[in-house]
Amino acid sequence: MNNNIHTVFDKIKNRRDKEIYLKQRAKVIWFTGLSASGKTTLASMLEKKLFELNYFCQILDGDNVRSGINKNLRFTNKDRTENIRRIAEVSKLFMNCGIILLCSFISPTNQMRKMAKEIIGEDDFLEIFVDTPLEICEQRDQKGLYKKARAGEIKNFTGISAPFEIPENPFLRVDNSDPDIENTVHKMLLKILPEIVFDPTQIV
Ligand code: ADX
Repeated sequence: MNNNIHTVFDKIKNRRDKEIYLKQRAKVIWFTGLSASGKTTLASMLEKKLFELNYFCQILDGDNVRSGINKNLRFTNKDRTENIRRIAEVSKLFMNCGIILLCSFISPTNQMRKMAKEIIGEDDFLEIFVDTPLEICEQRDQKGLYKKARAGEIKNFTGISAPFEIPENPFLRVDNSDPDIENTVHKMLLKILPEIVFDPTQIV
């Protein structure tokens, strides 16, 4: 690190104080999966449910982040790694504000997800693998990108001309080809609630 950088982390009100204020424990819920697998749909349905239960969340999503802070990045392995690195750092900032993050990024390799986990911290990184088969994602193709990728108009397209490595040990695996999406959201909610619930007896 540059010797002329003097961080002030110790002078800022800490995460615990903010978690007490918000009555929740901050975590990063990290959705990984193919394009059109349903990551963002599931994240936004989960956000709605959590909001109804008074949890304060923020969604970060690939297309949004790539239209702003990461607009200079493309889809090479190097740029995707930088995409995920910045998102993980931003997520950590939000988390230190006591906020629950719902991150929805393809994050296609074990290496990228491992890096995100290391930046965020193992205990705070809850990985959800949206395991929707490629054929279903390709049938959906809401953005018409698979068609373009098959025609060779998009390079390095995940699942077609770039790899997606299956997560080795996710916190939760869901299959979003299951038509009962409400049930999938309920399953996620049951698994996540114990991780974010605020326990006043633990305040020291
Ligand atoms: S990641 O691989 O770096 O994690 P990210 O989640 O930010 O990807 O962005 C994925 C979104 O970018 C897709 O949902 C799709 O809309 C769009 N996209 C454009 N080009 C590609 C590509 N070559 N591979 C995958 N997604 C792409």
